Amino acid sequence: MDRIQAKKRIAVLSDEIRLHNHRYYVLSAPIVSDFEFDMLLEELIRLEKAFPELAEPDSPTQQVGGGITKEFRQVQHKYPMLSLGNTYSEEDIRDFEERIHKLIGDEVEYVCELKFDGVAIGLTYRHGRLMQAVTRGDGVSGDDVTTNVKTIRSIPLKLHGNGFPEEFEIRGELILPHSSFKRMNEQRLADGEEPFANPRNAASGSLKMQDSAEVSKRKLDGFFYYLPGNNLPFKTHYECLIAARSWGFKISDYMVRCKTREEIFDYLKTWDKARYELPFDIDGIVIKVNDLRQQEMLGYTAKSPRWAISYKFKAEQVTTKLLSIDFQVGRTGAITPVANLQPVQLAGTVVKRASLHNADIIQALDVRIGDLVYVEKGGEIIPKIIGVDLEKRMTDPLPIVFISDCPECGTPLNRSEGESAWYCPNEDGCPPQIKGKLEHFISRKAMNIDSLGEGKIEILYDNGLVHNCADLYDLTFDSLIGLEKTHEATEDKKEKKISFREKTVANILNGIESSKLVSFDRVLYALGIRFVGETVAKKLVSHFYSLEKLMQADLLELIEVEEIGEKIARSILSWFSSQKNIDILRRLRSKGIQLTMIEQDNTRLSDKLAGLTFVVSGVFENFSRDELKRTIEAHGGKNIGSISSKTSCLLAGDNMGPEKRRKAEKLNVPILSEIDFLKMLQE
Ligand code: IVH
Repeated sequence: MDRIQAKKRIAVLSDEIRLHNHRYYVLSAPIVSDFEFDMLLEELIRLEKAFPELAEPDSPTQQVGGGITKEFRQVQHKYPMLSLGNTYSEEDIRDFEERIHKLIGDEVEYVCELKFDGVAIGLTYRHGRLMQAVTRGDGVSGDDVTTNVKTIRSIPLKLHGNGFPEEFEIRGELILPHSSFKRMNEQRLADGEEPFANPRNAASGSLKMQDSAEVSKRKLDGFFYYLPGNNLPFKTHYECLIAARSWGFKISDYMVRCKTREEIFDYLKTWDKARYELPFDIDGIVIKVNDLRQQEMLGYTAKSPRWAISYKFKAEQVTTKLLSIDFQVGRTGAITPVANLQPVQLAGTVVKRASLHNADIIQALDVRIGDLVYVEKGGEIIPKIIGVDLEKRMTDPLPIVFISDCPECGTPLNRSEGESAWYCPNEDGCPPQIKGKLEHFISRKAMNIDSLGEGKIEILYDNGLVHNCADLYDLTFDSLIGLEKTHEATEDKKEKKISFREKTVANILNGIESSKLVSFDRVLYALGIRFVGETVAKKLVSHFYSLEKLMQADLLELIEVEEIGEKIARSILSWFSSQKNIDILRRLRSKGIQLTMIEQDNTRLSDKLAGLTFVVSGVFENFSRDELKRTIEAHGGKNIGSISSKTSCLLAGDNMGPEKRRKAEKLNVPILSEIDFLKMLQE
C-alpha cells in the first residue's frame, strides 16, 4: 500500500472506529462484534506503525494508551472550577428555591441531575478535537492528565456532527463502574496491595498513573454535565447538554426538567432508592436553574454558583448485633478483623459481615461483642461499622482486645511503623500464608497451573508434600496418586470430595510441566513479593531482563524504573535478602523455570495472528496444547484462559468441555479445529 492509499484507509478506519466506540461506550448499542472491532483497530495500528507521520494526534489508537507522564503539568483553569453548595434536607432545597424566586421571579425551570461520585474533569476542545484534560486541583489550577484521559473509550477525541463552538470546555465526572472497581480490588488484594476504599478513590488513583496503557485497562468512564463560559449558542443548560450529546459526549439519560418543588422532591426520593440499582456510585442529586440568562443574573458566591445546589444522600444505616469477630490471616500475613453480624437488610442486600479494618478502628469505636452497632453502606461497597448504640449496651462486656498472637500458628504479631495492619511474621510456618502463597503462584495470571486449583493445594499441603513453590516441581506420580480429601459442607457450598485418580494426577503433572514455559515477568509476579503485582513485574523485567540483573540492583537503580517507588523497591530488596528465597530461586532455576526475558524477536515468526486472542481447549492430534499456545504467540496472537466476548477464536480439540463450546456459541466466538488453525497460518 502506498502513502496515499494508506492516508485514505487511515481516515476511513478512524471514522469507522470512532463510530463504533461511540455506539459501544456511549450509547451501549454496538453494531459490530468485538472481534470485528478489534480487527479494524489492529489494522489501524498496523498502518500507523508503517506510516507514523500519518497518525493523527486524536486517532482512536490513542485510546489503547502507551504515553508516559512522569510528572503532571499544572494548568490554570480558564473558568475556576467551583464546587456546589451542599444541602442535606428538603428544608434546604425549599430555601434555595425561595431565594431564587425572590431574585428572579416565578418563571423558573430547573434541571435535576444525578450527582456522580467520581473525579471532576474539564476537557477543552478546539476545532472539535480534544486538546486538554485537567483535574479540578484547587479549583484555580489542576493537573494536565490529557494523555490518560485520552484512553477513556467513552470520551470523544474528535467530535461528531457540527454546531460546536470553535473552542469550548466541557466539565464532567470520571467514574469507575462497580464491576471494574470490584475486578481491580480483587487484583490488588491478590498482589498484596491495599484495596481502594471506594470507586471514587480508585478512579482518582487510576487517573494519576504514569503509564497511560495501564489507565486504559482500568475501564474508567465519564459523564458530562456542564459547559462553562458564555460563548454558547444556546439559551438553556438543557439544550447545551442535548447538543453535547449529539457531539458524542456521554450525557446522563436521567436528567429531567422540573417546574415545581414537588417535582424536585419526587426526583430526589426516586433516586434516594434507585441509586442502588445503578452500576456506578452517585452521592446525591444536583438542581440547576435551566435558563442561561437567569444563571447569569444569579451569578456566583466566592465558592459556588447561586444557580445550582446539590443535595447529598444520607448513607443508608441500620443497627444490628455484633455477634463475634474473626481474625483472618492473608497471604502476606496481614491480619484482618471481620465482624460477624446478625444478618440485616441494608441498601438492597443482606449484610452478615462487615470489615473492622484494623486495631486502631476497633479501639476508636470501643465496640464490644453483643453491642448494637450502626452499619453503613456509603460510597464503599463493603459495609462498615461506624458506631455503637451505647444506650442499648445492657451489661458491661469487656473491650475487644486485638489478638497479640497469630490465630493460625500462635506466633506473636508485629506491626511496623506507619502501618495500620498487624502481621504474622511466620511466613514459612503459618499455614494460611504458605497455602495463600502457593495459591497465588499457581493462579491464572501467574504460573497458570489450573489443574492444581479448587482446593488441591490444600491437599498437597496437608500431606506434607509442598511448603513453597519450588516443592511443586518435585512432585511425582507416586507421591500424588491416591491422595484425597472431603471438604465439609458450608452454608454456601455443598460437601465436596476430591480424590487424585490417574487422570487428575496426569493433569497436575502436565500443568506443572507447562508452567516451565511461562514468561519471566509472570514468574516474578508468581513469587508473591509484596507490592510486585503484574504491572510492576512487567516493568521490572523489561528493565532488567534477567533475574541476575534484578538481584544486583540497589535501591537507586530500582527506583529508576517506571512506576517503582521506594516502598516497592524496599520490598524487593528485602525479599532477595532472604537466603530461603535465594534457595527457592536456585531450585526453580534447576527445574527450568524462565528467569530471563526471552527476546520477542527470536520467537516471532509472523504477525498473522496479531491482535487476536485465543482460548485453546481440549486434546489435539498434531500439537500439544502448549505447542499450540507457543505457536499462537510466535505469530503475534495472545492466549487467554477463558472465553469472553473479546475472544477471537476458540481452538477446540477432542474432549473439550461442553460448557466452553456453549459459551463460545452464545458469544459468537468462532470455533476452530487444529486443521482450521493450520490453514489460517498458511494463508
Ligand atoms: S455542576 C459550577 N453537575 O460535584 C458547578 N457537578 O460538589 C459545576 N458533580 O465539582 C458543577 N455530578 O465534581 C455538577 N451533575 C453534576 C454533578 C456535579 C457531580 C460534582 C462536581 C462538582 C461537585 C460539587
